[in-house]
Amino acid sequence: MSEHFRVQGGARLVGEVAVVGAKNSVLKLMAAALLAEGTTTITNCPEILDVPLMADVLRSLGCEVTLDGSVVTITTPKELNHRADSEAMGKLRASVCVLGPLVGRCKRAVVALPGGDAIGNRPLDMHQNGLRKLGAHSEIEHGCVIAEAEGLHGAQIWLDFPSVGATENILMAAVLANGTTVIDNAAREPEIVDICVMLQQMGAKIEGAGTSTLTVHGVESLQPTEHRVIGDRIVGATWAFAAAMTRGDITVRGVDPHHLDLVLEKLRMAGADVTTLDDGFRVVQTDRPRSVDFVTLPYPGFATDLQPFAIALSAVSDGTSMITENLFEARFRFIEEMVRLGADARTDGHHAVVRGVDRLSSAPVWASDIRAGAGLVLAGLCADGVTEVYEIFHIERGYPGFVENLRKLGATVERVSA
Ligand code: UD1
Repeated sequence: MSEHFRVQGGARLVGEVAVVGAKNSVLKLMAAALLAEGTTTITNCPEILDVPLMADVLRSLGCEVTLDGSVVTITTPKELNHRADSEAMGKLRASVCVLGPLVGRCKRAVVALPGGDAIGNRPLDMHQNGLRKLGAHSEIEHGCVIAEAEGLHGAQIWLDFPSVGATENILMAAVLANGTTVIDNAAREPEIVDICVMLQQMGAKIEGAGTSTLTVHGVESLQPTEHRVIGDRIVGATWAFAAAMTRGDITVRGVDPHHLDLVLEKLRMAGADVTTLDDGFRVVQTDRPRSVDFVTLPYPGFATDLQPFAIALSAVSDGTSMITENLFEARFRFIEEMVRLGADARTDGHHAVVRGVDRLSSAPVWASDIRAGAGLVLAGLCADGVTEVYEIFHIERGYPGFVENLRKLGATVERVSA
């Protein structure tokens, strides 16, 4: 049965929302549990579809996994299956993060190429090159990444680009390698810091978390731990954009506001009154937003995952914005759907130019990925009439209780089954 959202335009969103753990952290933390025999507990997990999918991936490797609300418990056996090619692998991007832990623990891994959002070319060359430096042979054969090593040894690794996934996989292999590994041009995302904190609790020796140089002194083995996932900064930012776009007043709890310093600064430039709190922030927008330019970059730059919201905000702002996408070119597909809603936007290569219009106009639109889907719902809130958003399973991969939260903030949104 297919379901879609019916979004009534015109609401001003007001109130408070609580944000739970980050999707892009929890799935990697679950993979990290493979590194230690015994029972690891992860708390503050979001109740989204990708978590049970990742649980299925871990079960196919021999783990016992229980999901109890926001708590995920993973019991990892002494002997792991090194073949990760179950059906669940193809359904999410983060499944590729079992590669590093499997090579670390089993010295060999066969990992089906991952699925996930269709946001552009997503090669694994940096993951493989890093593992090769650690002493593994790696090929892609029959739809799987294969990595095998006699034994892993420390190495100096320079990444071409601070890739989040490559940093995570190399890190999770290096923690059990013999000797010291230095990863230069490493990703600095808060989710990388989160995984480093968990690995340190497990007994890993890591220096430089949150900087572009990670130094890892390999250890013989790791112990299971209990860890609380950091709040989802992308979900938190989604609500911040929702406040700015609907001229609303939203308080967000459960996110470190420093993870969103640049985002909140951009919203201030757009005219929002932003207050930071210990565990969140409040965004109040009274007048029509002013246009602001956005450039996506690795953290601490403006996150590519927030690019659809930058476009949606620009579409209703006063003035013209230039949005530059440096990570995933196909994300600009979102603009085609925004044009259906009456946005005045065009792209040229890595750039999009968006001229703000007074009001968007409702239309049927199709979500192409998690963030694009949420962006279309926010745009629908600013459109005349009722906007139908299709392919909402994308949105539900990333936003726990999305409709419930929208309604709590005063939006009229229905889930319709067809
Ligand atoms: C993760 C996030 C995704 C986010 C992205 C960038 C998860 C599950 N997904 O994706 O939501 O948008 O970080 O913040 O955490 N690249 C290569 N070769 C590689 C690896 C990456 O060329 O081996 C390129 C990619 O094509 C892309 C750029 O590097 O242009 C960044 O990708 P990366 O940081 O690896 O993103 P993911 O880890 O896939």
